[in-house]
Amino acid sequence: MRLDPFSDTYNRNPAATWKRILNSGQLVGYDLDLKLWLIAGHDNVRTVLSDPVRFSNAATLFPVRPVSPAAGAVLAGIDAPNVAVSADAPQHSRIRALLRHVFPNTATRAEQQWGDLVTRRAEQIADELADADAVDLVDEVAVRFALPVILDVLGLPADNAADIRGWTDAFKDLVWGDPTDGAQLDAARGSVALWHYCTHVVDQRVATGDDGPGLVGDLLRYRAGDDARLSLPEAAALVLNLLGAGWETTAGALGHALEHALVQPERWDRLAHDEHYRATHIEETLRYAPVVDGWLRLTTTDVTIDGVTIPAGSRCLLLLGTANHDPDVFPDPDAFHPARADLSQHVAFGYGAHYCIGAALARLELATMLRVLAQRLPGLRLGPDYVRRFVPNMSLHNHTAMPALTNGGRCPIARSEPARTQ
Ligand code: HEM
Repeated sequence: MRLDPFSDTYNRNPAATWKRILNSGQLVGYDLDLKLWLIAGHDNVRTVLSDPVRFSNAATLFPVRPVSPAAGAVLAGIDAPNVAVSADAPQHSRIRALLRHVFPNTATRAEQQWGDLVTRRAEQIADELADADAVDLVDEVAVRFALPVILDVLGLPADNAADIRGWTDAFKDLVWGDPTDGAQLDAARGSVALWHYCTHVVDQRVATGDDGPGLVGDLLRYRAGDDARLSLPEAAALVLNLLGAGWETTAGALGHALEHALVQPERWDRLAHDEHYRATHIEETLRYAPVVDGWLRLTTTDVTIDGVTIPAGSRCLLLLGTANHDPDVFPDPDAFHPARADLSQHVAFGYGAHYCIGAALARLELATMLRVLAQRLPGLRLGPDYVRRFVPNMSLHNHTAMPALTNGGRCPIARSEPARTQ
């Protein structure tokens, strides 16, 4: 089996590759180039995600490409313990219970805790775009929104946003990208800087005796000085996990949602005023174009799946995109169809023990930004020079850029509408 995730073909339209794999009849196989087992199809992907014992998370954050000795030496400076996405039971069960306690993970709780701050950030961006004629929806909307929101949520100052963006981009490229040796070294330095930032944030709050605002403060209050509940390195590693997982994903998903909305003006109109449509548009975006479309597991024993035996100690890439385009679950999978019946079956946020803890926050962010932007810029359209291309990466698919025109279509009354009442 072959994925070729760094090719131009894949970076323009990964769905064509998913279709090829799904039609080939071979859904589990070894990719000689990537040196990874590929697992495709809705049944197979869900089976693996439901089995954290035989499919471990321990190597989800290890670089997929061989690391050069120089980059490896730098990376040795990261002594973060495994928490959340890189932990297995029993460690994972303890951390997950803690996250359930401190992290609002239902729509209602997310809205109560973060609704105001998310709306404020969305309106601030809409205000800043008020006089623009042209805009890059990636840099000026998706990133500019999702990164400050996660900093607000964690209770971290916005001053470090540019550094954090650079470090998390570096980490993403190092783990799931295809960097050159030189880029690998820079990415390793950036990843170490990110880890040092997270440990510094935690150490500083402990040193001042003030747990402080946001989720970082909630983690420290939950810890209550007890290492058995949560050690300080674990707290720092959770900050790293949440920073790493919390903004590129949402920014990427927002890019996909905007693209699918702007190709048809009637979709854009409905996003402004139709709450039900907005929710289904978001779910169909997550199904059709899952921003995390490949995710890693490590076998702990020989496992036979779909008739193929994968040896113990193998790294596997779960092709979430193929699960979401499996015609056995989603009829006519290559059509963008928000009214489809089985939307809840998509695996864009994973499934089972590691199901995304930030799903409710991400949905809140997407719904808020889409509503505010569609109300305030009803004339927004993709620019004539827009060509879809993603940053090369085998896990996350974020658009490189998305030029759009506002068409002077500002709505003079939208600003005074109640924020979340439709
Ligand atoms: C559209 C946006 C997002 C997508 C598509 C997404 C996707 C995912 C996926 C596929 C997983 C499962 C990983 C696995 O099975 O190993 C996951 C886990 C996780 N996500 Fe998200 N995510 C998004 C937003 C967020 C946000 C906003 C946060 C936090 C602020 C977050 C934090 C996490 C964490 C901590 C985990 C690990 C949970 C665990 O291992 O128990 N994610 N996410």
